[in-house]
Amino acid sequence: MTKSSMMIQTKSVTKKVTTSEGELQILNPISFDVEAGQSVAIIGASGSGKSTLLGLLAGLDEVSDGEILLDGEALHSMDEEQRARLRGDKVGFIFQSFMLVQSLSALENVMLPAEIAGLDNPKKRAQKILEQVGLEHRATHFPNQLSGGEQQRVAIARAFITNPKILFADEPTGNLDSKNSTKIEDLLFDLNRESNTTLVLVTHDDELASRCQRQLRMTAGELREENLRAVDSAIHAKMNASEES
Ligand SMILES: Nc1ncnc2c1ncn2[C@@H]1O[C@H](COP(=O)(O)OP(=O)(O)O)[C@@H](O)[C@H]1O
Ligand SMILES: [Mg+2]
Repeated sequence: MTKSSMMIQTKSVTKKVTTSEGELQILNPISFDVEAGQSVAIIGASGSGKSTLLGLLAGLDEVSDGEILLDGEALHSMDEEQRARLRGDKVGFIFQSFMLVQSLSALENVMLPAEIAGLDNPKKRAQKILEQVGLEHRATHFPNQLSGGEQQRVAIARAFITNPKILFADEPTGNLDSKNSTKIEDLLFDLNRESNTTLVLVTHDDELASRCQRQLRMTAGELREENLRAVDSAIHAKMNASEES
């Protein structure tokens, strides 16, 4: 397990929170690795802990225990400032609810992470990537003037402008109709392939999950590998067997 091949390494990661009823363990010890360039889907019921795990992996939240290494860097021992720097450097994040800045135009939303990271020509970069997601004609529009699908394309452009090594997406198509969902999925996988980004997404959609190279299922804070294709072929085998009998 070397830094060069593993983009994400987690070892016995747990998350506990304190509530009015006492301590609540949201995630049981979770250990898994993701290779550079791999696409991974995290599936599972609502409330099982998927968003909590994604937030920890992306450095948006702090682990209670355990280790997370992103591209070899020990996220679990960083303070908020160091995590912010690592996020700006290596991580892109897409949310179900888009999370665009309402007072900024599409172009300005996309420019923002490039400005914060101090990259040259943020405007030129943003124009180019808006073109890539098919929204150059919407550059001056504000989020409330855009459809859900368009807002998510802006959010994807914003996530990709810094060329992140890892992209996290939490139910990226959860608020979209099926036509827009397909467009967003195609865009995510195209960008993932073109820029060799490691992609970790959370979804309820088995079809979207099956487009990823790997599937992990979260059940009440426990994460395990799942093979959707194996499940598929088991179902087919059973159907064929019952047709023959
Ligand atoms: N800060 C918190 N305080 C208390 N409970 C929380 C907190 N964050 C998440 N939870 C609980 O942890 C569980 C997992 O939440 P979440 O990760 O959002 O699940 P999922 O994304 O799979 O729907 C839920 O029961 C949720 O209510
Ligand atoms: Mg969630």
